[in-house]
Amino acid sequence: MEDNQSEFFNYFQTLKQSFNQFLTSEIYPLIEKHSHPILAEAMIYSIQAGGKRIRPILAIASYLATKPYNKDLLKNDIFFLAASTEMIHTYSLIHDDLPSMDDDDLRRGIPTLHKKFSESTAILAGDALNSFGFYLLALVNSKINDSSLVPDLIKILHQGAGMPGMVSGQIEDLEMEGNFGLIESRNQQVKEEILYRIHKRKTGELILASLLLGNRLREDYQARFQDTQSYGEKIGLLFQLTDDILDSEGSSKELGKTPGKDLESGKLTYISLYGLDESKNKRDILINELINLGQQLETKDEFFFKKLPIYIGTRKN
Ligand code: IPE
Ligand code: IPE
Ligand code: MG
Ligand code: MG
Ligand code: MG
Repeated sequence: MEDNQSEFFNYFQTLKQSFNQFLTSEIYPLIEKHSHPILAEAMIYSIQAGGKRIRPILAIASYLATKPYNKDLLKNDIFFLAASTEMIHTYSLIHDDLPSMDDDDLRRGIPTLHKKFSESTAILAGDALNSFGFYLLALVNSKINDSSLVPDLIKILHQGAGMPGMVSGQIEDLEMEGNFGLIESRNQQVKEEILYRIHKRKTGELILASLLLGNRLREDYQARFQDTQSYGEKIGLLFQLTDDILDSEGSSKELGKTPGKDLESGKLTYISLYGLDESKNKRDILINELINLGQQLETKDEFFFKKLPIYIGTRKN
């Protein structure tokens, strides 16, 4: 766990910086060019608020597969892919926070979009970001002579963001909210299956899709597919498990969102099913499994996928 965690952090920060620059130079102008000014302002308000940019960084890292950072490798293609994941993710946060969903007032350290603007503006900004995310895939203009590339990218993103993934996860998350009566009489195994399914879909699938999108741009994408898939499934689960832990013990200052909401609204989470201590045990087990899986994704002296689980599992926001 020691050594190059700081090397990981620097690499992560470098990718994040390049990605944020790309947002400023390419993405915000596109939004401003194509949107009604209020819509553009609302979309950019939520994107610019920040966030860890984990999904785009995963896409870029999966594409680079931890080769030392090299600017020449970071062509626009991979940045458009990376941006597609962040547009979809930002839309999902805006809608997730709506009064009819999780009803949150604080996001990324500032008032949620429906609080700052209006509920209808938040719905429409989410709508626009959702379709914009898919549009960005059409801007991938890879030199790779491969007619199945863009259709494959669309399928991967739809699996992660659409009805098979995030949207089905969100509806089951809400179905279970304050509704343990639905499953109270079921045995522990059934409850665990439901929790796993919700977390995998509402959060895990888009994280997996981010890795698979970046991988799909590589020439050796088929050879790396299975390892990327296995790793992506688990890192997505670790991400949401950690989100549940943070909701239970984080502060709003650190999180940039209001903690304690899951308990208050009666969500089915790792904490409500297993308690905090057991959830942390499960987190630690997952981290160790992922460190091993990360070894298969890269050669011995590389580090990104071996260090990422510690970052995801021990983050403070
Ligand atoms: C929060 O995602 C929502 C979940 C899917 C758990 P992040 O924790 O990645 O949020 P930002 O992008 O850093 O704000
Ligand atoms: C997030 O789950 C899932 C999506 C946004 C798709 P949460 O509802 O737990 O995320 P936070 O805690 O509000 O960020
Ligand atoms: Mg939610
Ligand atoms: Mg929420
Ligand atoms: Mg949460």
